[in-house]
Amino acid sequence: MNILVAGGAGYIGSHTCVALLEAGHSVIVADNLCNSKAEAIDKIKQITGKTDKEVLFYEIDVTDKQKVYEVFLNHSIDGVIHFAGLKAVGESVEKPLMYYYNNLMSTMVLSEACLKFNIAKFVFSSSATVYGENEVPFVETMNLLPTTNPYGETKAMSERILTDIVKANSNFAVTLLRYFNPVGAHKSGLIGESPNGIPNNLMPYVTQVAKGKLKKLKIFGNDYATVDGTGVRDYIHVCDLAEGHVSALNKLSEGINIYNLGTGQGTSVLQLVKAFEEANNIEVSYEIVERRAGDIAECYANASKAEQELGWTAKRGIVEMCKDAWKFEKNY
Ligand code: NAD
Ligand code: UFG
Repeated sequence: MNILVAGGAGYIGSHTCVALLEAGHSVIVADNLCNSKAEAIDKIKQITGKTDKEVLFYEIDVTDKQKVYEVFLNHSIDGVIHFAGLKAVGESVEKPLMYYYNNLMSTMVLSEACLKFNIAKFVFSSSATVYGENEVPFVETMNLLPTTNPYGETKAMSERILTDIVKANSNFAVTLLRYFNPVGAHKSGLIGESPNGIPNNLMPYVTQVAKGKLKKLKIFGNDYATVDGTGVRDYIHVCDLAEGHVSALNKLSEGINIYNLGTGQGTSVLQLVKAFEEANNIEVSYEIVERRAGDIAECYANASKAEQELGWTAKRGIVEMCKDAWKFEKNY
């Protein structure tokens, strides 16, 4: 299939391009590079040995309807994967309009283009954040609870927009993929997560402390009701997550389909730090500080639906996630 990958130069998008190409598909990346670099496209080609024939790149903003329609007019597209969102929770609180505009307009413009050009397959990057403070493990049949920030709200709203479009268009097929915590990098060390400025997320912070770029990891609270008091998350290797998209596309059926992409395994902050130190034989200094506003104690998936229906399951463990994240950071 020929897949339009909106946001394909970014962290998860670039790994998904690699997985798609390795599975024999070709990709058209549409990205405005607001949080990525064009080099990612060269790296995708380098890893897969593919050329401009299978990997096309358009530097466009996917909220720009005219530019998006030009791409749809010029190519025969079989499906769309929509990664093109802004994702920093704190920034979304400071600049809500920017988040609502970008994340909702991109969903509306891309889905409208699919309807106009009769493209039935649409895969959306959602997030475990839509579950709110539900009881763990999170399962797809749960009622969603309120989100705690504008970023999370854009995911919940995009899910509702796409669900309503499917209700009104019976031959449109949408899969909502609710990601847990993607970490790690491709084993080549060529692509990975390279956040601008000081990282918000745990793993890039850990790798930058290990490298000496940052002094000390701040662990946000050790008084949660968890195994050791620190927050528990379901860390998933980004390559497993990327492969989940290929499975989702292959099995995409009419209507709205929802899958958790997680491992089903919870890991605390302290457990992750220890695993990183042991896997890479390097020390990560840390201190315990106050809880971070908006954080929940535990978040992990019930991952059985994706296994049963997509035949997909995460294969890589915490040690591999820590090794690959460190390899990328050292190379970067
Ligand atoms: P990322 O920032 O690395 O990738 C997003 C890409 O989209 C970037 O290359 C950016 O330049 C591009 N982009 C953003 N707005 C655009 C626009 N209007 N037009 C064109 N390109 C645009 O982020 P990521 O971690 O790869 O996340 C991908 C998707 O997955 C996002 O929608 C994010 O919200 C979602 N998600 C991420 C996580 C996570 O922890 N990384 C968790 C859950 C969901
Ligand atoms: N943490 C620290 N110190 C840090 C960073 C994080 O102790 O410097 C802790 C957090 O308190 C939390 C855990 O590490 O307990 C993971 O935090 P992240 O910021 O890495 O990830 P979150 O679970 O908060 O959020 C991520 C994405 C969101 C997404 C959510 C659910 O950033 O976009 O997973 O999928 F919505």
